Amino acid sequence: MTRHGLLFVCLGNICRSPLAKFVMLDLVERRGLAHAFDIDSCGTGSWHAGDGADPRTVEVARRHGLNPDHVARPVRPAVDFDRFGLLLAMDLDNRRNLLRLGAPEAKVKLLRSFDPALSGQPEHTLEVPDPYYGGPEGFEHMHEMISAACRGLFETLVRARVS
Ligand code: 4NP
Repeated sequence: MTRHGLLFVCLGNICRSPLAKFVMLDLVERRGLAHAFDIDSCGTGSWHAGDGADPRTVEVARRHGLNPDHVARPVRPAVDFDRFGLLLAMDLDNRRNLLRLGAPEAKVKLLRSFDPALSGQPEHTLEVPDPYYGGPEGFEHMHEMISAACRGLFETLVRARVS
């Protein structure tokens, strides 16, 4: 069986894309479908390679019962653009950087485009804003945005598989 390959992509790979990975791993596990998914995250920058998730991301993950294990890594175009069927950018800069690195356009999506509540909204409203320089409330809001989008993504993929 081919697994759904999902790569969540942000800038530093310590805040947004790790949290998306934690949320999605938890979701597929709770639905008994972990075997059907290949899930990872990375950054378009490499400053934080080898670091764990940002402490504020770890805190919000724990608060929501998620496992915050993480080692940050930069995107590896030659490997990742082949291995993963969907490259899920958190914002428009991440998407632009992926395309500049040669990612196939059909694979690159904004994560929040899968939030059904945002269907038809203009692209600039579909970003998960970078919370790095903001306060802790930004991290809670980030979790809300990411979990709604991941639920939508999961439903889209599972529906596609059965229909
Ligand atoms: P992320 O947030 O892209 O969601 O991981 C950031 C983390 C670190 C930096 C920027 C954004 N930084 O400039 O170090």
